[in-house]
Amino acid sequence: MVDYKKIDQSDVSFFQSIVGEEYVLTDAASTDAFGHDQTEDFSFPPEVVILPRQTEEIAKIVAYCNEKLIPVTPVGAQTGLSGGALSIHGGVALGLKRMNQIISIDEKNQQVITEPGVITQVLQEAVIEKGLYYACDPSSRGSCFIGGNIAENAGGPRAVKYGVTKDWVLNLEVVLPNGEIVWTGANTLKNSTGYNLTQLMVGSEGTLGIVTKIVLKLIPYPPKNVVMLAPFYEAAKACEAVSAIFRAGITPSALEFMERDAIDWMLKSDTEVTLDIPDNIQAHLLIEIDGDDLDVIYKQCEKVAEVLEQFDCSEILFADTEAQKDNLWRMRRRIGEAVKSNSIYKEEDTVVPRYELPTLLKGVKEIGSRYGFQSVCYGHAGDGNLHVNIIKGSLDDNAWKNELPKAIREIFELTVSLGGTLSGEHGIGYVQKEYMDIAFTDTSLNLMKGIKTLFDPKGILNPGKVFNS
Ligand code: LAC
Ligand code: ZN
Repeated sequence: MVDYKKIDQSDVSFFQSIVGEEYVLTDAASTDAFGHDQTEDFSFPPEVVILPRQTEEIAKIVAYCNEKLIPVTPVGAQTGLSGGALSIHGGVALGLKRMNQIISIDEKNQQVITEPGVITQVLQEAVIEKGLYYACDPSSRGSCFIGGNIAENAGGPRAVKYGVTKDWVLNLEVVLPNGEIVWTGANTLKNSTGYNLTQLMVGSEGTLGIVTKIVLKLIPYPPKNVVMLAPFYEAAKACEAVSAIFRAGITPSALEFMERDAIDWMLKSDTEVTLDIPDNIQAHLLIEIDGDDLDVIYKQCEKVAEVLEQFDCSEILFADTEAQKDNLWRMRRRIGEAVKSNSIYKEEDTVVPRYELPTLLKGVKEIGSRYGFQSVCYGHAGDGNLHVNIIKGSLDDNAWKNELPKAIREIFELTVSLGGTLSGEHGIGYVQKEYMDIAFTDTSLNLMKGIKTLFDPKGILNPGKVFNS
């Protein structure tokens, strides 16, 4: 492991000379506030928080830290679920919240150029005003930053039709660990020019460079949608229905799965959402179909309903007013928070080819009953992406610390055996790196480590993430 330098007053003075005193924070309240994200209850405060405004400032800070061997952890909105923004070796937390300008919306080319500290929903609303759409919408879209979405290759409910973050990124300005500033690609929809550095950066969790400008493609905004909530007596049947919907020729703009407990916990924690669920319902699918023409959308909804009936579905709720739709989406988007507030938990972001979803769910429950843990599952069923929330509940500390990692290993082995992988959209970060050997051979892991060393030979940038470094 690298012998990192502790930060002293001369380092602080240097940082102050770059960004101004006001934006270099060393008090405990500030460093503590930057010591966590939304991952479990971890706290890894940095030694100093720096809040730059310009790419050039970042370049100077990073070059200095590279020279001095000070670790640098880029921090966005701290909504991450794999510990990517935790300063596990102390050092500098480079907060990107002041880099919050949408630089330009290019309506002619249907592109947007933005800084990384823009809240994803703010970006979405700005382009909707021009009739354009950035569809990638993680549940935390009201607070997460677009830069963090790029770092983790975030997804969200609409990824099933519109793709995840990587599918929207055309070009990136990046500060490399030695302080050099590069652009990774071109502002074009097609690009077959050399290795794809843009896509290498997306999902690299702030370990290769710091993204300071982002060029995203946009599409015309689909103005209409209908949301359906389908209750099922058996969770397995709900999962089986998922791939059948696509096989019937429909691509919904969202297809979410929620187990009974996920909704119950959500309803308990947020009384503004209302939904009556009969006792014999085990799970729901939340399905959204969007487009330009409501008649076409309703025809597709009917087709979906026909498919669902074959899987023993109860009475489907059709939401077509904005208030009804908002109620259902609020319920779905807040499940993660509700689970977190209910119990200590660990979240696994399993993903399999979608037809394997029922087998994954069954396997997770079987592993849970063998190890004695409860799991609350929900997620982006259309993508085969199941968020498995393992609840501490009455498990003792020994089981939680020593037995649970074995159970998680089994869950991931099952996931990989089904053709899937460890994380669909939350990243590996700090919490899943011990399991990378399940998804990759040594050869593949060594290729990745070689890439890390090429970009960051001294190992100063977000160390200890993705794999031990
Ligand atoms: C969600 C987050 C946890 O789907 O990914 O709500
Ligand atoms: Zn999710």
